[in-house]
Amino acid sequence: MLWKLILLVVITLIIIIPLFVFLLTGILGAPYVPSEKPDIRKAFTDLYPLDENEYIVDLGCGDGVVVDTATEFGAKAVGVEINPFMVWFCRWHFRKNKNARFVHGDMYRYKLPAKTTAVYMYMLPLGLEATFKHLRKEATRLDKTIYLISNAFDLKNEKPYKHEPPFYLYKIKPYKDDDKEPAEPAKIAKATSAKH
Ligand SMILES: C[S@@+](CC[C@H](N)C(=O)[O-])C[C@H]1O[C@@H](n2cnc3c(N)ncnc32)[C@H](O)[C@@H]1O
Repeated sequence: MLWKLILLVVITLIIIIPLFVFLLTGILGAPYVPSEKPDIRKAFTDLYPLDENEYIVDLGCGDGVVVDTATEFGAKAVGVEINPFMVWFCRWHFRKNKNARFVHGDMYRYKLPAKTTAVYMYMLPLGLEATFKHLRKEATRLDKTIYLISNAFDLKNEKPYKHEPPFYLYKIKPYKDDDKEPAEPAKIAKATSAKH
């Protein structure tokens, strides 16, 4: 009798925990819906042609299909995913792919590697807009322009550099002195004066 109860609890947890994580990631950015492989190939040939000099970051990489496809073109790629089950799956599934890497992380905070050339996202508009602000700061930190490939959704206040349905390509430029966010120096000044 007891073993039946234990079995029931284990099975329930196996179903409930992944379901909970799936719903949570949906609320945080976008639920898991993979990009179509032919679309990804089209993006990496027509919209933003890839070669071995490219380093792609897929923010919210899901099952890793974008990362894997990018490496077919000789590029190096990293997938960032908030759902730990997906990260384990990707690491196992693409374990033989030496140009693919997967990290557990949050796209709103992820520090882009210095060699990043482009970021890929398939994210709902809210998550996309919020991450764009973070990416602009990252472009400023790295002091370079980074490209953003967005599947299906566009940015409200930004003009795409190229548009090949279903993709939008943006240039993320570093903040210049005249359009740097003014909030930070004020915050730092306040914190410093509070200390003294
Ligand atoms: C629509 S899927 C896209 C998957 C993949 N990029 C593709 O195009 O096939 C979005 C993925 O983003 C993940 N995600 C949602 N919020 C996230 C966050 N804050 N940080 C990292 N990944 C997130 C979800 O778990 C999901 O796997």
